[in-house]
Amino acid sequence: MKNGKIYGVGVGPGDPELMTLRAVDVLNQVDVIVIPQSSKYIKSVAWRIAESHVGDHPEQEKLFLTFPMSKDPEKTGPAWETAFREIGERVQNGKSLAFISEGDPLFYSTFIYLLNQAEKKWPGCEVEIIPAVSSLTAVPAVIRTPIADGLERIAVLPASYGLEDLRTILDLFDTVFLMKVTPVMAEIIDILTEKGLLNRSVYVSRATMDGQSIVTDLNLIKNDKCDYFSMIMVSKKERSGKIVPDHHKLIFAGEK
Ligand SMILES: C[S@@+](CC[C@H](N)C(=O)[O-])C[C@H]1O[C@@H](n2cnc3c(N)ncnc32)[C@H](O)[C@@H]1O
Repeated sequence: MKNGKIYGVGVGPGDPELMTLRAVDVLNQVDVIVIPQSSKYIKSVAWRIAESHVGDHPEQEKLFLTFPMSKDPEKTGPAWETAFREIGERVQNGKSLAFISEGDPLFYSTFIYLLNQAEKKWPGCEVEIIPAVSSLTAVPAVIRTPIADGLERIAVLPASYGLEDLRTILDLFDTVFLMKVTPVMAEIIDILTEKGLLNRSVYVSRATMDGQSIVTDLNLIKNDKCDYFSMIMVSKKERSGKIVPDHHKLIFAGEK
């Protein structure tokens, strides 16, 4: 039997209305929706975003797979063994599967490992990517701050894996996105202060999701345990129209 097809489907940054028509179509057509979750007890964020767009299809299977949030191969290895076995069985039976990802599937997502392995494990298995609105465009949108204009340059840094280069990067780039900031907020704030860029930096958590918050005075949250879905955007250029970091302002979803 011919191998099936795997779709990597991005479901966007949080607001279900930001899902693409193509993502909705695919999720309503495939035999299996593969739903990655960080624990059996916490509902997958990607599924929470997509669920309301998926109709009732009695034949369609929802395959929940748990991937611990860890870089330790001892923890992730067994999870991937199970995932490859479960996905493999279905692919080899000619089924179509949609693996959902929060944001875009090719931007820091669990799906990337599956993509890297799919051709090796199931030769001839077709893979199609359904791109999506990413946090990288959702965060600037909620704070109305251009990402780059003209010849400006941007950098993206997964901050929790090392801040050694941050000072140099802040010197070289016009806009810097710091992702995965939660464990290193205090260090980031110290570096931004040292570089005189604290008033050019905005923290956004859960952009377009329920509970979205925007913090323009980062010192307010220096010692807080911040949400996993949070990012700092440093925009060195002076611009009009954007949400300006002034005083101790906290803006919540829905507020202007
Ligand atoms: C594993 S990455 C997933 C990125 C996702 N694939 C995307 O395209 O945005 C998780 C990191 O993305 C950022 N992130 C994702 N969604 C976000 C949101 N709605 N608001 C703010 N940051 C978000 C955070 O920095 C978080 O730590």
